[in-house]
Amino acid sequence: MPKHKNKAAESTPDSPSNPTGRLLFAVIIATLLMAVAGIGWFLLSSTPTPVALAPAPTAQPAQARPVAMAAATMVDEVQCQGCHSAQVKDWQGSHHQLAMQDANADTVLGDFNNVSFKAENETTRFSRKDDAFWVNTPGIDGRNADFKVAYTFGIAPLQQYLIEVGEGRLQALGVAWDTEKHRWFHLYPGQGVNFKNPLHWSKPSQNANFMCVECHTTGFKRNFDAAKNTFDSQWNSLGVGCQACHGPASNHLEWTQKKGDLIHQGFDVDLKDKNATVEIETCARCHARRAPLGDGYTVGKRLMDDYLPSTLTRELYALDGKIKDEVFEHGSFLQSKMFDKGVRCSNCH
Ligand code: HEC
Ligand code: HEC
Ligand code: HEC
Ligand code: HEC
Ligand code: HEC
Repeated sequence: MPKHKNKAAESTPDSPSNPTGRLLFAVIIATLLMAVAGIGWFLLSSTPTPVALAPAPTAQPAQARPVAMAAATMVDEVQCQGCHSAQVKDWQGSHHQLAMQDANADTVLGDFNNVSFKAENETTRFSRKDDAFWVNTPGIDGRNADFKVAYTFGIAPLQQYLIEVGEGRLQALGVAWDTEKHRWFHLYPGQGVNFKNPLHWSKPSQNANFMCVECHTTGFKRNFDAAKNTFDSQWNSLGVGCQACHGPASNHLEWTQKKGDLIHQGFDVDLKDKNATVEIETCARCHARRAPLGDGYTVGKRLMDDYLPSTLTRELYALDGKIKDEVFEHGSFLQSKMFDKGVRCSNCH
């Protein structure tokens, strides 16, 4: 990650510290505002219209006062390179960029040279045919069949493989490649995970549309159709791209043409904001153990508008607050004195 000095960041009065004081303050301010608004209502026959969040399609502002702009959309990130070569160079080859890739000779790290791996009474065979990578393994009916690898998932210390099984479903294979010891291994050894077990790769618990892809792509939508029981999932790009952290960039690109007076140069968030929560909650969307409340999220909204983070339980955290296996950093970091003093992820990463 690039390191930069905080320059001219504005603060928003949204700090999580001292909640009671802030609540009281907010109540007083709100009361005062209502009083003022009430007086205004009597004095003015026609109140001025407030700034619209999105412009009405017919409204034509007289001259460049671009306060109101349509919600930004995701763009092709190849365009960022021309003007931000330093950031693009830092990001190229990062685990963020490589978090999910098309399966091909450059991206697949596992050994697919006709090798067999046996575990949990199931045999999985890895092979290549032309440019494609194949596994032969028991499917949902317990019978061995050929499945083509669609995507690589993760980069180190292990790599997993996603398999497309029809109806838009991507499933995460339970046999993974250990990139350090260079060997195949089972993710749930000794638990008797055969095709009848809920942890089997063919089961809903290993469905990547629902369980995985959101954090390994940019601009993901599950698009689950409950009536048809199918997925039509979409993403803007594979891997964690610029817009996964900065948010959709279409308004920014427009701004680079006109250079008007646009807040955060067209982005919905300023990750350099003095209030560290803005950045920390951007990372926490993926670096926290949490359940999604809907399909996707909105950059600039608070974390808990879109997600329900897990609480610190004995099963997930060590007694001193350190994470156990797949828990991610956010929950522990919130307990630290660093967080309390305004330290943020990008101070170290
Ligand atoms: C035509 C040139 C151009 C292109 C293309 C461009 N930017 Fe920028 N960007 C700028 C300029 C100029 C600034 C302002 C730099 C400054 O203030 O130091 C900027 C600022 C930014 C900032 C900082 C915003 C802030 O609030 O301080 C981010 C983040 C950013 N760009 C991301 C992107 C991303 C992501 C893309 C690709 C989708 C992109 N830019 C494409 C020119 C460009
Ligand atoms: C869209 C989801 C997403 C967001 C947002 C995100 N990350 Fe990540 N991050 C990931 C994933 C997925 C990986 C692991 C990629 C892999 O190993 O294939 C990762 C890996 C990392 C790593 C380890 C990378 C390495 O090279 O060893 C660090 C450190 C990290 N992220 C920090 C951050 C910080 C700091 C932020 C916020 C500024 C952030 N991430 C935002 C998904 C995300
Ligand atoms: C909440 C966001 C999130 C979800 C959901 C998610 N991942 Fe990740 N994944 C990450 C992050 C963040 C990392 C980086 C490692 C870390 O933080 O310890 C990562 C890393 C990985 C890695 C690289 C190895 C490693 O441990 O670093 C693999 C493989 C992986 N994830 C597979 C999956 C699979 C399979 C699923 C679905 C069953 C999944 N992930 C769901 C965020 C997520
Ligand atoms: C993992 C999250 C993450 C990703 C991915 C990411 N950024 Fe950033 N970026 C940040 C954070 C956090 C900051 C502010 C803190 C800092 O400066 O380090 C930032 C700052 C910036 C700035 C402002 C620098 C300045 O000094 O004003 C630009 C420009 C930028 N990023 C462009 C990009 C581009 C282009 C990409 C894609 C190639 C990208 N970023 C990918 C998190 C991210
Ligand atoms: C005070 C410095 C500091 C801060 C602040 C910090 N980290 Fe870290 N982080 C570290 C160190 C040191 C490691 C361990 C590196 C290692 O063991 O190789 C680490 C490890 C990680 C890893 C695992 C990398 C890997 O290779 O497995 C991720 C992901 C990560 N941090 C994300 C975050 C996020 C997200 C935040 C903000 C919520 C954050 N960190 C805040 C210092 C920091």
